[in-house]
Amino acid sequence: MAQGALPGFRDFYPEQLAERAYITGVWREVMRRYAFVEYDGPPLEPLDLYRRKSGDELVGQLYSFTDKGDREVALRPEMTPTFARMVAAKANSLRKPVRWFSVPQLFRYERQQKGRLREHFQLNADIVGEPGVTADAELVAIALDVMRELGLAATDVNARVSDRRLLEALLLHSDVSVDSLPAVYAVIDKRGREPAAISREKLAKVVSSGAIADRVEAVLECADVETLRSHYGQVDAAVVHIDRMSDYLRYVDALGFSEWVRLDLSIVRGLAYYTGIVFELFDTAGEFRAICGGGRYDTLLEALGGVNLPALGFGMGDVVLGELLRARSLVPDARSRTDFWVAADDDALMTDVMSVASRLRRRAKSVEYALRPQQLGRQLKAAGSAGASRAVLLKRDRYPGGEITVKDLRTGAEQSLPIDEFINSLD
Ligand code: HAM
Repeated sequence: MAQGALPGFRDFYPEQLAERAYITGVWREVMRRYAFVEYDGPPLEPLDLYRRKSGDELVGQLYSFTDKGDREVALRPEMTPTFARMVAAKANSLRKPVRWFSVPQLFRYERQQKGRLREHFQLNADIVGEPGVTADAELVAIALDVMRELGLAATDVNARVSDRRLLEALLLHSDVSVDSLPAVYAVIDKRGREPAAISREKLAKVVSSGAIADRVEAVLECADVETLRSHYGQVDAAVVHIDRMSDYLRYVDALGFSEWVRLDLSIVRGLAYYTGIVFELFDTAGEFRAICGGGRYDTLLEALGGVNLPALGFGMGDVVLGELLRARSLVPDARSRTDFWVAADDDALMTDVMSVASRLRRRAKSVEYALRPQQLGRQLKAAGSAGASRAVLLKRDRYPGGEITVKDLRTGAEQSLPIDEFINSLD
């Protein structure tokens, strides 16, 4: 029996490839509108690149091995370390802000489940060299513009935004100890993906007090800047971060996306390198996993390349997005776009069929014909099942005089005219 693909890996038959091409086409079109340029890096990287920065969860999911030269290597599980390394290496000569995007295939040894595979394609958009929140607003606008371009609305998808610095200030103010912060983040990160009572129990355990857990929950309930100001406006360590969030939301509004964005301090992001505003995109019905995630990582370029440059970016996967678009019937029909099928009523005209096909292809038309002699009726049937729009018919009694018949395969209408006139009429 023929073997299938490995678990978590996809065969892209033409239908699936058409869907992927549609999604990546929209990604590239939106990136063009935001004046980003495309780059790529190696799919195989030194293992160390991820060990240092991606965080334990991702490192546990690496496809890693020792190569024939005894190097420890890994298939890329994410693009950010490669991007940071590439930018850091040429930091002086690059125009700032750097606005680059990429569409890599990534590999993570995850448990296969809805929305999670062992390979996926991911749009990465990153900006380097701008510390201000105008850049953070620009970034989330890109991700949301992709949603809009795919036919989704604010009623379908939301961006949930938070700021790690703000959350940290509020947690410390709530008497969470510095040492327990990472454990608290881990519990918060899982919140929403497990029953509320369980998260609450875990939270009380890591902060070792029910009262502190209550205060943490009160922080996480704040869903707008006004509530933050009224509850924590007097907390010195938090004010600057609340002001920043307020500016950010004003810029998001100016870019036309305020109704798509919600403040949600429970968004902490699993990856280790984020330092500021972070966000994730989710379907509003809560049926699917995160569509997109990203944020600011101002210290990663320093850690990986020794240059002190602020940076921010996001990754948007094709898997959840495909599931969501299919569920909302938003994937366009991917039927073949064959323009012409060339057919003849005589086997002796085979080479003429081929040369007419060739002339049409030089006019950039998509053309097919029967590769073996067939009766005209069968050729036209094949043309229909290929989805061709029109047939060009070469008839034994007319073609030697230079005449062809063009048949519209949808309406059945026919028109006979000289071949040269027909070819010249094509734009
Ligand atoms: P991430 O949150 O790990 O971030 O992944 C971003 C998105 O990629 C997720 O929201 C999800 O749609 C998709 N994704 C991740 N893992 C899988 C998987 N196993 N199967 C299917 N889809 C998946 C990052 O990777 C960051 N490097 C993004 C970034 C870029 N931050 C700054 N710049």
